[in-house]
Amino acid sequence: MKAVRLHGRGGPEQLVYEEAPQPQPGPGEVLARVGASGVIANELKWDETYQTVDGAPRPLPIPGHDLSGEVAAVGPGVTDLTMGDAVYALIAFRRDGADADYVIALPSELAPRPRTLDDTQAAAVPLSALTAWQALFVHGGLSAGQTALIHGAAGGVGVFATQLARWKGARVITTASARNADFVRALGADEVIDYATTRFDEVVHDADVVFDAVGGDTLARSWRVVKPGGALVSVVSPLSGQPVRDDIRYIYFIVEPSGAQLREIGALIDAGQLHPIVDRVFPLAQARQAYEAAATGHPRGKIVITVP
Ligand SMILES: NC(=O)c1ccc[n+]([C@@H]2O[C@H](COP(=O)([O-])OP(=O)(O)OC[C@H]3O[C@@H](n4cnc5c(N)ncnc54)[C@H](OP(=O)(O)O)[C@@H]3O)[C@@H](O)[C@H]2O)c1
Repeated sequence: MKAVRLHGRGGPEQLVYEEAPQPQPGPGEVLARVGASGVIANELKWDETYQTVDGAPRPLPIPGHDLSGEVAAVGPGVTDLTMGDAVYALIAFRRDGADADYVIALPSELAPRPRTLDDTQAAAVPLSALTAWQALFVHGGLSAGQTALIHGAAGGVGVFATQLARWKGARVITTASARNADFVRALGADEVIDYATTRFDEVVHDADVVFDAVGGDTLARSWRVVKPGGALVSVVSPLSGQPVRDDIRYIYFIVEPSGAQLREIGALIDAGQLHPIVDRVFPLAQARQAYEAAATGHPRGKIVITVP
């Protein structure tokens, strides 16, 4: 099969489009034919990308853990999926990803592809929507009537966090650049703070949940805008040292694959309540350019790779 493999640790320059062995599904595994994959720029920097599930080095890893495609074959013991089923998934890190013609997925990672989406749109969903879902609802405990502050609202994760917080019935305050203000408002933000001209910590004081997909100084200044009893949830930085405050919860987490949550997310998409945003599309042979584009840090929504 054709695949894009990493020939060493580093950035997009290490990606090579080439022939690779086609995987075969073992017991409890599913072989998916890839229609499209989503680009996760930072994936190339993570240790997990270069390790097996046992922590051993993994030679020539294939990135791209957002999958949309169809079931090509099932291994022994898989009874609830059949050839031709349209599926989407976040594939667990430490295994090969979907920047290839075929990829192995587990049934617990897979959900039916939303019927209103094609592969390109569906590949923009899994990692970003699951991260937003788990941040706001699993870790943050956001509920209707509360106030959420969402940093990086125009990015891959932020577009889902903004829409999901709105769907939940929260008051949604966001940070984004001025060029994205109308875009983020259209996603459901009640308020958009231009991070280049306004210090959000001077205007926000009452957030029940702050979701940080930016890190650095943005995260550091977020502690003081959370209500007592509220939550500061980051997907960028684990806590280093002592918490700044002990009257709020600080949570750093790494997104978990979940076919069950992707079913709920898919139902919202098919009901017209959640929309994937695709910034740009590249063919698999140009994966390197796709990762370079994502690494600029300013995509609007998600960059997607299509696999013909
Ligand atoms: N722990 C996990 O499981 C997990 C999962 C997913 C993602 N992540 C991490 O989360 C981060 C975001 O991922 P992503 O895919 O959403 O990234 P992305 O698509 O590159 O989006 C980044 C967004 O951040 C905005 N931004 C940049 N500087 C900002 C600032 N100072 N204040 C507010 N917004 C700012 C940009 O908006 P403008 O264009 O408007 O400047 C851009 O839209 C990455 O570091 C990623 O590695 C972690």
